[in-house]
Amino acid sequence: MEKIGIIGAGAMGSSIAEVFAYNGYDVYLKDQNMDLANKGINNIRRILTDFKSYVNTLPDKEIKRIEKLGIKLSDEQINTINKNLKKDIKIDEIINHVKPVDDYNKLNDVDLVIEAVFEKQEIKNDLFKELSNYLNENTILASNTSSLSITEMASYYKKPENTLIMHFFNPPYTLPLVEIVPAIQSSNETVNKAYDIISKMKNHRDNMVPVKAKERAGFIVNRILIQVIHEAIKISEENIADERSVDIAMKKGAGFPMGPFELGDYVGLDIVYDVLKTFNNVYGDRFLIPERLKNMVIAGYLGRKAGKGFYEYKK
Ligand SMILES: NC(=O)c1ccc[n+]([C@@H]2O[C@H](COP(=O)([O-])OP(=O)(O)OC[C@H]3O[C@@H](n4cnc5c(N)ncnc54)[C@H](O)[C@@H]3O)[C@@H](O)[C@H]2O)c1
Repeated sequence: MEKIGIIGAGAMGSSIAEVFAYNGYDVYLKDQNMDLANKGINNIRRILTDFKSYVNTLPDKEIKRIEKLGIKLSDEQINTINKNLKKDIKIDEIINHVKPVDDYNKLNDVDLVIEAVFEKQEIKNDLFKELSNYLNENTILASNTSSLSITEMASYYKKPENTLIMHFFNPPYTLPLVEIVPAIQSSNETVNKAYDIISKMKNHRDNMVPVKAKERAGFIVNRILIQVIHEAIKISEENIADERSVDIAMKKGAGFPMGPFELGDYVGLDIVYDVLKTFNNVYGDRFLIPERLKNMVIAGYLGRKAGKGFYEYKK
């Protein structure tokens, strides 16, 4: 498998395209128009430029770390560290793997298409229907949806057995997990192929990791994380501890990289609120919407992007 198509060049589509290009795939990137597809390409350039600057700092960081331990390195040892840790990130070479396109004809010989368009069931259903005219019989058609029905999308596609969810995490170039979620129509062959593709890939930090899950709201990660944020808000509402203490406790006591309040602000409290509403519909009272969260969303305290959420941020 060497060629893939990505539909939707926004936050997720462009960064998923970057990860595939980084792994040597040729990627066709399609959005509603060429300007938006090119915006996606610019985002890929930004991701790679940041990555390159980060990688360039690694040898010096390692040398400083060792010298801090009181060890004096020889010139030869410093050269070895530089040689081993310096990676030449060939930005243009990687970007050349991604071709912005403005129609679906180019997708007739790709092996996999991943859609990352707006999170609206009708838009995705329409897209699956339209793609029936362009994709070949063997192409796998995957959705990156976080919450919508793949079984419904699949019913609009000419070969429902070729569809499934491949749920990447934001941003996929540092978070290696992909949840593989079949529609009830998906064939085992489709699921196994998708699993295999991810198992062989790397992102900027790690090997990519697929896990299989059944189609139920939130799959694995979001279902657990939202419950953690939900419980953290309840703890603050009950005056058991303030936000800062809860975040410190979860980082230092449970090894979380971010506390639940920091995470809520990072994701966006409007999104946390919408997901909680969906989970409340599906799972009932296990996911109630805290009064405080509802009021914060009404007030526009949506987290990092608004400059204010559980914490304040400089804009
Ligand atoms: N943002 C996240 O943290 C995250 C994480 C995992 C999954 N997802 C899922 O990924 C998908 C995309 O999310 P995003 O955050 O990248 O959204 P986004 O708004 O940044 O990007 C969506 C892109 O899709 C394009 N688009 C919309 N309709 C289209 C169509 N019919 N044809 C072609 N392009 C179209 C838009 O122009 C836009 O560029 C959603 O299904 C979302 O649930 C998002």
